[in-house]
Amino acid sequence: MNLDELNNLKTEILEKAKNANSIDLINDIRASYLSKKGKIPLIMSEIKNVSVDDRASFGQMINSFKKELTEIIDIKIKSFSKTEKLQTFDITQPGQWNSIGSSHPISIVTDKICNIFQKIGFTIAEGPDIETSWNNFDALNTPDDHSSRDSQDTFYLKNKDLLRCHTSPVQIRYMKSHNPPIRIISPGRCYRRDTPDSTHSANFHQIEGLYVDENVTLADLKGTVSYFANELLGESVKTRFRPHFFPFTEPSFEVDFMHPTAGWIEVLGAGLVHPNVFENVEYDDSKISGFAFGMGIERIVMILYDIKDIRDLYENDLRFLKQF
Ligand code: PHE
Repeated sequence: MNLDELNNLKTEILEKAKNANSIDLINDIRASYLSKKGKIPLIMSEIKNVSVDDRASFGQMINSFKKELTEIIDIKIKSFSKTEKLQTFDITQPGQWNSIGSSHPISIVTDKICNIFQKIGFTIAEGPDIETSWNNFDALNTPDDHSSRDSQDTFYLKNKDLLRCHTSPVQIRYMKSHNPPIRIISPGRCYRRDTPDSTHSANFHQIEGLYVDENVTLADLKGTVSYFANELLGESVKTRFRPHFFPFTEPSFEVDFMHPTAGWIEVLGAGLVHPNVFENVEYDDSKISGFAFGMGIERIVMILYDIKDIRDLYENDLRFLKQF
């Protein structure tokens, strides 16, 4: 091959590559010219047959031929792979939705319980996780030496505030800022220094209820609680009141529900609001009375869904959460 022939071949092939309109054509050109056994390496190997005068120009020309052809092919391949992607995009395919998740079982049960009480006129009132000792203990008539005040049981902050160990301080906040009649339900997080195991967690959830009006009696508490039991677990569910002690209620009870499969389960702490609590929020207890109750949500969730280990509720394992 002489210099002219090479020049013609170069022009022809570069033109052909520029006009190639399919990935197959480009691959063909690359295979026949640039591959190890292709034309360009062959021509290079035969450079010794070119006349001495032309050899330098021939060498330069074959090198620039190789370089330009490589560039054109690279650009072409890139643009084809883009359009090819577009061609495989099927606009008639239905959209793909990202999963938007689902409610956590604690939220499901909290909402369910709040709804049951909202149906009979309770409204939701929330309080902060960080509380004063006054709201969490003193105003609730908790004696100075009560064991729950111990730093073994309660998380204290540097300034003597604390992480509330129950939702009962919401009672105090609400009564300080509202006048009777009061019907509130207060869901929220609580904290206690418990060693975690299958039934204990250092942070958990409660729902508090408070009802204050004229002439509220134990019968109102009983009626409200059995309404709640029936709405939560079914019409035939019985309730059982066992005498108990809470500093902020008098008399005080623990309330059990008869669950169809689990038997008697302890659900609520409850009682009539203690006169000292009314005094602490500057209510005149000769005119009003009330009842309060509080329940742990995790226990109820575990019974309703037959969950054996409370820690499953906090690990955010999707295989667990997707079941609700
Ligand atoms: N605060 C109590 C507890 O955490 C529950 C309770 C609330 C009891 C209201 C009586 C009245 O155990």
